[in-house]
Amino acid sequence: MADLTTNCGGIISPNPFWLASAPPANSGLQVQRAFEAGWGGAVWKTLGTPIQNVSSRFGGLTIGGVRGAGFNNIELITDRPLETNFREIYETKKKFPKHAIIVSLMVETEDEWRDIILRSVDAGADGLELNFGCPHGMCERGMGSAVGQEPRINERITSWAVKYSTVPVLVKLTPNIGDINPHGLAAKHGGAHGVSLINTIKSIIGVDIDRFVPEPRVGIQSSNGGYCGAAVKPIALHMVAQLARNPNFGLPISGIGGICNWRDAVEFILLGSTSVQVCTEVMLKGYRVVEDMIDGLSNYMDSHGFTAIDQMVGKAVGSYSEWGDLDLNYETVAKIDASSCIGCQLCVTACHDGAHQCLHPQTHTRVPLVDESECVGCNLCQIVCPVAECISMVPVDNGWTPATWNEHSTGAKQLRPKKGSHP
Ligand SMILES: Cc1cc2nc3c(=O)[nH]c(=O)nc-3n(C[C@H](O)[C@H](O)[C@H](O)COP(=O)(O)O)c2cc1C
Ligand code: SF4
Ligand code: SF4
Repeated sequence: MADLTTNCGGIISPNPFWLASAPPANSGLQVQRAFEAGWGGAVWKTLGTPIQNVSSRFGGLTIGGVRGAGFNNIELITDRPLETNFREIYETKKKFPKHAIIVSLMVETEDEWRDIILRSVDAGADGLELNFGCPHGMCERGMGSAVGQEPRINERITSWAVKYSTVPVLVKLTPNIGDINPHGLAAKHGGAHGVSLINTIKSIIGVDIDRFVPEPRVGIQSSNGGYCGAAVKPIALHMVAQLARNPNFGLPISGIGGICNWRDAVEFILLGSTSVQVCTEVMLKGYRVVEDMIDGLSNYMDSHGFTAIDQMVGKAVGSYSEWGDLDLNYETVAKIDASSCIGCQLCVTACHDGAHQCLHPQTHTRVPLVDESECVGCNLCQIVCPVAECISMVPVDNGWTPATWNEHSTGAKQLRPKKGSHP
């Protein structure tokens, strides 16, 4: 069986599954129950000057019948006294010495950073996570994403933290920026041992159309919050991969954002994450979701011959490139497996209205016909087909040698004739 132990920037945990800094990691008893359920690490709910929260504070988005597929919150950092948090961190670490406790922090001045770092390390933290990501409330007070959006401030505060900490420092990055690279590099230049991303995305989750107030409602008002949950995974994967493939970066990454199952975790690891963090899925379903995550990851590693997490980290990064380096002469067409087709015609509608009008109904059978001479291989029919593996995208041996846009634009390579451009 594969060894799931991971070392993320010097923080070692028995498996790569960490609770993200959020309500499930708010107190000692919760984190202890999570460790008993199987979580390898926990990033404690952000500590700072305790705040007063609003009521209500969460919003959920139902997508395709899945409640909470998108989630948003206007909660701030811890509202519990620091002494209580530190005492519980100490007790939890004593009971679970092999599990990783990472303490998330957010304060303002250098003196405050020094004080809270020393207290966190004294309490037994295995690592620190600097919360430069919270996109509501705290940023109005000059913290959270207000820091994460300014590389120079990010670098300066990171360098303070590294100066005062005797344990590894991760910088938690905000997705509320255009390009993640300067922000990851700022953390690196400040001396961070790794980064975590993503924190939540600035958002309005919806509007109460009878009361004329956005959600979540605080009386007759609302405010923008942070978006997370399954719906944000593609954004998070992209940002993780952007840093992982930056040759000037090279720090360990703790991947976060929409991780709901072992497969999501594998995707984050293949795109460069050494550990993964989960918040929304635990809030919706409880700590036990980690059992399937551990089993699934372990089975996946066995079936692919990986014996250690390190062997998987970043395996898919090399195949992620700029669009201009993709092979424009590579071609696929849709093929329908007539024996599994149920004749629903969803693919016909999709191709006719949303793609290239080359999938046609037939009179003698309910199985549609793909006109391969016009099919551009866009995948849309496969995406809408309700029968698994009924439509496959099959490579065409068109005789053309690979040619990218970058090669073509310098005149070095010829492109195959276009399909699907109806006159
Ligand atoms: C209710 C709630 C509270 C959160 N509080 C914090 C926090 O105190 N510190 C922090 O760094 N991130 C906080 N987050 C962000 C999560 O740690 C995580 O980055 C984000 O939710 C994305 O992961 P997910 O898609 O698994 O939820 C919070 C998220 C939620 C939903
Ligand atoms: S792959 Fe695209 S173009 Fe080809 S049949 Fe399917 S929907 Fe039509
Ligand atoms: S969507 Fe799939 S099952 Fe439905 S007609 Fe097309 S190929 Fe057949």
